Amino acid sequence: MAPSARRRRAHTSGRDLRRYAPLFAKRTTVMRSSAMRDLMELTARPEVISLAGGQTDTSLFPPGEFAAMMTKIAQEAAGKALQYGPTEGFARAKWCVREVMAAEGMGPEDDDIIITTGGQQAIDLITKTLIDPGDIVICEGPTYPGALPTFSAYEAEVLHVGMDENGMKIDELEQLLDRLGAEGRRPKFIYSVPTFQNPAGATMSAERRRQLVDIARSRELLIVEDNPYGLLRYSGEPLETLYGLDGGDYVVYLGTFSKILSPGIRLGWLCAPPPLMEKVVLGKQASDLCTSTLSQFFVGEFFRAGRWKSFIGESVDRYRQRRDAMLAALDTYFPAGAGWTVPEGGLFIWATLPEYIDTTDLLTRALGENVAFVPGTSAFADGRGRASMRLNFSGVDETEITEGIRRIGGVVARQVELYESITRPGGDGKQSGGSGSAGSGDPADGAGDSDGDGKVVAFRRQSLRPAQPEPGGEEGP
Ligand SMILES: Cc1ncc(COP(=O)(O)O)c(C=O)c1O
Repeated sequence: MAPSARRRRAHTSGRDLRRYAPLFAKRTTVMRSSAMRDLMELTARPEVISLAGGQTDTSLFPPGEFAAMMTKIAQEAAGKALQYGPTEGFARAKWCVREVMAAEGMGPEDDDIIITTGGQQAIDLITKTLIDPGDIVICEGPTYPGALPTFSAYEAEVLHVGMDENGMKIDELEQLLDRLGAEGRRPKFIYSVPTFQNPAGATMSAERRRQLVDIARSRELLIVEDNPYGLLRYSGEPLETLYGLDGGDYVVYLGTFSKILSPGIRLGWLCAPPPLMEKVVLGKQASDLCTSTLSQFFVGEFFRAGRWKSFIGESVDRYRQRRDAMLAALDTYFPAGAGWTVPEGGLFIWATLPEYIDTTDLLTRALGENVAFVPGTSAFADGRGRASMRLNFSGVDETEITEGIRRIGGVVARQVELYESITRPGGDGKQSGGSGSAGSGDPADGAGDSDGDGKVVAFRRQSLRPAQPEPGGEEGP
């Protein structure tokens, strides 16, 4: 037996760790795992309804079109498509980026753009370029859970600014900046997902956008705007991006084709002013030389065929139905005392439960019922978010969404019952959750007011519209 085969184990034991520990770089001690990645293994079982990932419905993409485009690439440009490409990306891919950004009112030049291996690499590259150990990154609380492992891998100190249904609270940001200033400290950048935020689903208001850009300009601070979802709007009016408002001096912009086309192609981008871009390019050279040439050709072909706008239109129609199905199910199956956001776009709803419920613990129970979500603590660097959860509505069809929320609601109801039986030994017959809560009063007392542990986002329970009719069968993937 080959030695490597003999030693192979499914899991690392404590002894293995001790043996390799002296080799590890110091930064590995502060690296944290991505909750979504960890969950993927558990949710891969077919019987599990996963509301955990940030998956799009890839069945929307017609296989025939996919095959025709790949065949065309193979026949017309196989040599180039199978070769290395420039680190900055191909001009054709940059043209696609400019098309997408123009649809949101932005007009970068080719030289402002680098094509990356997904939006995740764009986060990694900007952090690698700017962060030394101990440097401060300010972000919303909650923030994109996938950004936190990146910030900690580069040993940043992450500070959160609270948010409400209008996005990051700018007065709180100013207070934090003043406090840091008094200590002689400055953040390296402010990371924000202002539009249909992951995980909160909230969108920063136009006024706060202007205020944030003004702050960046007057205090000479860098903002990193991460905008994967801007074109996935289901209701309301589009808003100008931070990058559009600023013109690209103080705002670095991150985008991706993952949510508007396919996450599997791993294609994203970053826009930065020239001095920053030079360093980002060096960082990318060291990390992967160039982004997949084949993927860039694929996107180029898709855009050449002029299909991208209608494809986004189809995605928007489908996800709007799924969002509405999830909101209706939450109304039906989550107990009074729970609150959730009503996103105008994107892929996520953020629900906050009564504060005595710990959603990490709840997840274990939910997995026992074959349903998954992302616990709220994964969206904070400081352990907050315990009573909250992120729910994804794009990855499964309406029937599964409804069933998934019903199961989570059932697990929550049992927790509520247990709590009430402990805290009210006499029992007063108060509701135990589980059904019939639609439209019931204002539970702002129970969920989502600010500051306390786990009760972080000031959203109130609200209905977008009357409960939707049962979804039609044709929407299943
Ligand atoms: C805010 C945000 N940024 C970046 C990413 C990473 O996306 P990509 O698949 O392009 O790497 C995601 C994915 O969910 C996201 O929500």
